[in-house]
Amino acid sequence: MRTRIAVLASGNGSNLRALFRFFGEGAPLADAEIAFVASNRSESGALALARERRVATAVITGGEDDAPVLAALLDQHRIDLIVLAGYLRLVPAAVARAFRGRIMNIHPALLPAFGGPGMYGERVHHAVIAAGVRVSGATVHFVDEIYDHGACIAQWPVPVYAGDTAATLALRVLRVEHLLLPRAVHAVATGSVQLDETGRVTGSFPSPDPAAAYALLAREDADIARDITRLLSR
Ligand code: GRF
Repeated sequence: MRTRIAVLASGNGSNLRALFRFFGEGAPLADAEIAFVASNRSESGALALARERRVATAVITGGEDDAPVLAALLDQHRIDLIVLAGYLRLVPAAVARAFRGRIMNIHPALLPAFGGPGMYGERVHHAVIAAGVRVSGATVHFVDEIYDHGACIAQWPVPVYAGDTAATLALRVLRVEHLLLPRAVHAVATGSVQLDETGRVTGSFPSPDPAAAYALLAREDADIARDITRLLSR
């Protein structure tokens, strides 16, 4: 049976677009479908994109008080898995608990560094540059009741270059997000990656094996291939 995915997003929706591309019609890995998209911002690009694709949408407040509304929507759309793709609110605790192991987020840095409340959007990349670190990246993790805190599913690295601004770094990380997120979602949707009783992630996503992740990234995107070559030759 196809896994029914809900995507929560606040922003432009480029990660949602990457998910649609991966799971959309004619895609080779169509054992999951995006069945519902919700946003706390009525004018978000993500909602517009979902409407274009004729996927059910809703505007939610995103607050803790909204838990019953969100829970009812997830129920109504028979959602199996929630994906936070640039969602800026904390998911209500009751929803995070009910979907334990079936709710995941993408963060544009290598957690646990540069995460937590207030660390979103360009702020993350400003903080990375201010700290002077040379490697950033994208993290996909299971969601719990704390911002950017749940168990890590996958992390792919992105170099930080001298002269980077938050905007240039954000773009480089975003390209990797678009490749990483759909694959991580697919791994969770198909059960090849799971959160066990003790809170450990088990299964076989290529992330623990950097060589496999690099090979995949390099195949998909020439700019990323160049970045990886530079990263490895440091
Ligand atoms: C991404 O970098 C995501 O990781 C972050 O916000 C950005 C959203 O981009 N939380 P988009 O809305 O998917 O284009």
